[in-house]
Amino acid sequence: MDKLLLHVGPTTIKEDILIAGLENNVGFTSKEFVDAFSYSLKGLRYVMGVSKNYQPFITPGGGTSAMESVTSLLKNGDKVLVVSNGVFGDRWEQIFKRYPVKVKVLRPSPGSYVTPEEVEEEVQKDNYKMVTLTHVETSTGVREPIKDIARRIRDKVELIVVDGVSSVGAEEVKAEEWGIDVYLTASQKALGAPAGLSLLVLSPKALEVLNSEESIAGYYLNLRNWLPVMRSTEEGKAMYFSTPPVHVIMQLAEAFRLIEKEGIENRIKRHSIVASAIRTGIEALGLEIVAKRPESYSNTVTGVVLKVVEPSKVLSETINEGVEFAPGVHPAFKYFRIGHMGWVTPNDAIVAISVIERTLKRLGEPIRFGEGVKAVQEYLSSAR
Ligand SMILES: Cc1ncc(COP(=O)(O)O)c(C=O)c1O
Repeated sequence: MDKLLLHVGPTTIKEDILIAGLENNVGFTSKEFVDAFSYSLKGLRYVMGVSKNYQPFITPGGGTSAMESVTSLLKNGDKVLVVSNGVFGDRWEQIFKRYPVKVKVLRPSPGSYVTPEEVEEEVQKDNYKMVTLTHVETSTGVREPIKDIARRIRDKVELIVVDGVSSVGAEEVKAEEWGIDVYLTASQKALGAPAGLSLLVLSPKALEVLNSEESIAGYYLNLRNWLPVMRSTEEGKAMYFSTPPVHVIMQLAEAFRLIEKEGIENRIKRHSIVASAIRTGIEALGLEIVAKRPESYSNTVTGVVLKVVEPSKVLSETINEGVEFAPGVHPAFKYFRIGHMGWVTPNDAIVAISVIERTLKRLGEPIRFGEGVKAVQEYLSSAR
């Protein structure tokens, strides 16, 4: 049976994207690679909502290496405020603890988010060089109101950094308009490309800071070492710092082509419709969603709380039914996650709820059997 992958990354990859990597004679100086890289750098500006004033970076790795490469902008003794709504927000603290900087973490109660007021209050108390935010916390599916926070703290801290690993390509992102200095993501999530790449855009101010000799970053993750490669490649001239994953970048370029063809606004709308359809179905079944506050529901991840049945049992049963969901990773909840990002469609929402509905009935979870798919159908019949 063909499997539908409703995971939190890697997500389903369209065949055109996979095929774009099937070339056997592409070196890092080959024209087809340099063209694909250059095109991808421009595509990254498009999904991040930035002009040529911002510098895009595409480097080997993923979300975590993109996060750690932010140390390129820090020096000994700098103070960093981490706003963490869950496991991936906490990762910032784990990273910064390895470096000679001072870290303070703000956390909400599980399933909630740190409010813009709380962030503003904290930055007024100390002299923070950097604030890190997570746009969509993948462990809980909670979305942080980035625009509002940036508006409140823009003039009070030097650098605002946003982890957009589970948002870029599926949520509204306007890094330049909102005044964000670093917006980062990875290839395998809502961009719908294979895993293997870190993607970041840096503001002019972040680029100025990157110039500093005092950075605490190491060698490979120091963005300063990658900057000449990005600039040269975008202009159509290959340059070497370390070998790029040429085939994955060619696949990413095809993903950007398809994203541009769809149009980023249409893409965000599609994600929003699929996410609402899935939540409608979950709520109609009488199940609880991990995200506690509706204004923080995300377009990309929904955590489903279970009262009785073990989540691992649901995951193994639903795979047998042809759909793969993701396990829960936040210790405060007994739950599993539905990833709805990348190339998801409204029909996928129907399939997801239908499989969950009959599996939970079979396993003995108390649900309103028969209400889930019906509610999704009703929602989709009028959703535009
Ligand atoms: C919000 C967020 N940040 C960072 C990461 C880490 O990315 P990676 O697994 O590519 O290192 C993830 C991965 O799921 C994530 O969801």
